[in-house]
Amino acid sequence: MITTELLHILIIGSGGREHALLQACLRSPLVASVAVAPGNGGMEAEAACYPLDVGDVPAAVALAKRLGTNFVIVGPEVPLALGLADALEGAGLVVYGPCRAGALLEASKTHSKAFLERHNIPTARGEKFTEINAALASLSGRPLPIVIKADGLAAGKGVIIARTYEEAAKAVRAMLDERVFGESGAEILIEDFMEGEEASIMLMVSGQRYVMLPPSQDHKRVGDGDTGPNTGGMGAYAPASVVTPDVRQRVLSEIVEPTLAGLVAEGVDYRGTLYVGIMVTRDGPKVVEFNVRFGDPECQVLLPLLESDVVQLMHDCATGHLVPEGVRIKPGAAVIITLAAAGYPGTIRKNDGITLPDELPRGTQILHSGTRRDVATGRLFTNGGRVLGATALGETLSEAVASAYALAGKIHFDGMHYRRDIAARQLGRDSGAASRNF
Ligand code: GLY
Repeated sequence: MITTELLHILIIGSGGREHALLQACLRSPLVASVAVAPGNGGMEAEAACYPLDVGDVPAAVALAKRLGTNFVIVGPEVPLALGLADALEGAGLVVYGPCRAGALLEASKTHSKAFLERHNIPTARGEKFTEINAALASLSGRPLPIVIKADGLAAGKGVIIARTYEEAAKAVRAMLDERVFGESGAEILIEDFMEGEEASIMLMVSGQRYVMLPPSQDHKRVGDGDTGPNTGGMGAYAPASVVTPDVRQRVLSEIVEPTLAGLVAEGVDYRGTLYVGIMVTRDGPKVVEFNVRFGDPECQVLLPLLESDVVQLMHDCATGHLVPEGVRIKPGAAVIITLAAAGYPGTIRKNDGITLPDELPRGTQILHSGTRRDVATGRLFTNGGRVLGATALGETLSEAVASAYALAGKIHFDGMHYRRDIAARQLGRDSGAASRNF
């Protein structure tokens, strides 16, 4: 670590990902103080939380300066896309999270598709449209299913996989004509569908140097067996063995290294997390999407699997001192089960009282996402769609899964629901009962 001073950290964000980042800061001997903005009901019990609209860049910079912060960790994509990292650096602060030009990889899907094509990185064929008739006319020549993506940020909701031409046309109209995603859908990308199994590859990046964290898998649909509508993520586990040593090697040589070299060649000094969503297809791994921050809930299983100090790694990335060799990952596995509020992912109900167990079993942790704490009573209430994450580490994945479900069973709020099959596909693979779906 090339710093002699202890760190006074400000974490920007309010979800389970930021709670996991806070826990990592609290574990680090390099940290003198940590604050969060805006935080949530769980984080309030562990750190000072300050109100903040994360899209208000000047307010975030002012808060960081007022608190005497010397290191800012930016959790979500929206402030990064708005140039928060650039503004903080302009104010003389060290920041973990890419500059605006780097954040475009997530903030514009047409930009990232063009980037992938320019650098010959494997991905689905895609075409961009702003004009509705041209977009509709292009549909009939395409094989089903068809993937339609809003160009801009849409809180994980801007991707439609249409199984029929009618559904595809409806999605095109909804985005370009009805503007269901506002200006984020003023431009769309129409892509070929990729068959295979998805995995999340999280990299901690400093220019062309990087650390690859264990591959993980998210569970995006609300219901068991991947049924029902998409969510922000109903659970995750790591490591995911769909990324075999051979796939990993191809991810590094065909995707990661050309991506980082491409960023450098285009003058982008990327320092932060690069999340590459991949599809492991019959022809090898291909990029589904880029995100420019840790995945949520993937972050909550990856950080506890790091033996090395996460804060040191983030600071080294931010200051250009990352030494990837020697980064240590723990053996074993980690899992998180998202406990969701009544109605999620539709119209959610808030303000249900939450009961937590008095003691946590060894190796488990409760991470807060959508919670608030009543100031007068200290009592916790639901305050969002994804409310809590029951998280566990284990020597094996089946041990971690059993612990996480045992913990979930000790938590209560009215309307709480969660998937019962987190990591089931991997457990089947481990026992030899399941085979890859291609
Ligand atoms: N877990 C998916 C995401 O963070 O976008």
